Amino acid sequence: MSVISTITVKVPATTANLGPGFDCIGAALKLYNEFKFTRNERGLIIQVSGTEAEKVQTDESNLLYQAFLKLYQYIEQTSPSVKIEIKLGVPLARGLGSSATAIVGGLVAGNVLAGSPLSELQVMELAIAMEGHPDNVVPALLGGCCLAATGLTGWEICDITWHRQIVPVIAIPDFELSTLEARQVLPTEVSRGDAIFNTAHFGLLLRGLATHREEWLRAALQDKLHQPYRQALIPGYDAVEAAAVAAGAYGMVISGAGPTLLALTDELHTPGVATAMRNAWKQVGIKSVAQSLPLDIQGVTIF
Ligand code: HSE
Repeated sequence: MSVISTITVKVPATTANLGPGFDCIGAALKLYNEFKFTRNERGLIIQVSGTEAEKVQTDESNLLYQAFLKLYQYIEQTSPSVKIEIKLGVPLARGLGSSATAIVGGLVAGNVLAGSPLSELQVMELAIAMEGHPDNVVPALLGGCCLAATGLTGWEICDITWHRQIVPVIAIPDFELSTLEARQVLPTEVSRGDAIFNTAHFGLLLRGLATHREEWLRAALQDKLHQPYRQALIPGYDAVEAAAVAAGAYGMVISGAGPTLLALTDELHTPGVATAMRNAWKQVGIKSVAQSLPLDIQGVTIF
């Protein structure tokens, strides 16, 4: 068998939670990071270009490289020395799954360079263990909108029907919010009322996404498990939400742990919703980039 010497892995951004689906649902978006691994006898080299390239570590602490090493640890082989070229399209620490792209990218590249000893399911389980929750890494790997739940012997993954007329619009502000900080503000216990609220609204969300029934979608994007605690970390949240809804969005939620905000709308209202979100943030002094981003349905691609 010939040894593969170079491989490029392209991984989509993801938006997790979708309101009431905290830590269990996410969707892949057409925005990508690309990672090229080349065997290289002269030791680790990491080169980064693209969006916010200067913020990425280029030593052994790099998360992409850590994931690559993890794969080799798991299969109990010595990892090859590599040169890694990173092309970033997904902004960092914005709630768009940039860490998930690194984890998935490193594991998938490692697996292919090792001759693909692990199945996609095994890679996915390693990715979930590394990230600590499944809602970014699963759609990053598989594409589309995915629900992950613990099964009796491992993870159960469902692809979630997303009606083609529902379009995501994301507004990415020019400030970062670490997932750690956004998780630290969450309570460790919730009331029965809040649990019931989320169970009902999550069910409604799944039906709303499948059917595009507007009144269901409008109600379904509400959440009581994480958003009420996180909104204070995102200045202008209420104004951006009101502007998005007034411009024709069904509703707005925090993308992942934030601070990016995600509105769902239809094709017709997309430009107006994006402009309204950007302007609302501008009025409170926050610069942002807002645009519609269709769902990616392929997940990770290798070439
Ligand atoms: N479900 C996670 C959270 C996504 O909201 O904290 C962030 O990585």
